[in-house]
Amino acid sequence: MVKILVLHGPNLNMLGTREPEIYGKITMAQINDRLRHLADSLESQVEAFQSNSEGELIDIIQQNGAASDGLIINLGAFTHYSIALRDAIAGLAKPTIEVHLSNIYAREPFRHMSVTAPVCRGMISGLGWRGYLLALEALVGLLREGEETS
Ligand code: DQA
Repeated sequence: MVKILVLHGPNLNMLGTREPEIYGKITMAQINDRLRHLADSLESQVEAFQSNSEGELIDIIQQNGAASDGLIINLGAFTHYSIALRDAIAGLAKPTIEVHLSNIYAREPFRHMSVTAPVCRGMISGLGWRGYLLALEALVGLLREGEETS
């Protein structure tokens, strides 16, 4: 059974009410439900966590990452500057897909830079909640093909 760890970073617990014109009206709980539903049909498992704290996200990567086959991450604003999270992902060395609800390249210049994307297998940006489902399908497919060994 393929196991995927999903990490939601700061302020993503406020999805649904947070700037809905940018991030949509769907809540994080609804995204997790849709991921679990898709995971069932792909005969895989997702475990989802959210934290507003950089250190806590690093702890989860270190503690729960080893038992996972791959990661889906949306690290929110930490994406743009957290070298510590980048190092945690690189250190885990499991295939990771970065997701952003909004198109970070169509927004303010400070959002154009992702320090974490270079240590990820790929990135999906701008497709809203659907990006998470695309990431899950891609990750499970890559792991099954054995293209990514962990
Ligand atoms: C985000 C984009 C980030 O720039 C922002 O800080 C977020 C959400 C996204 O999903 O579009 O918190 O990661």
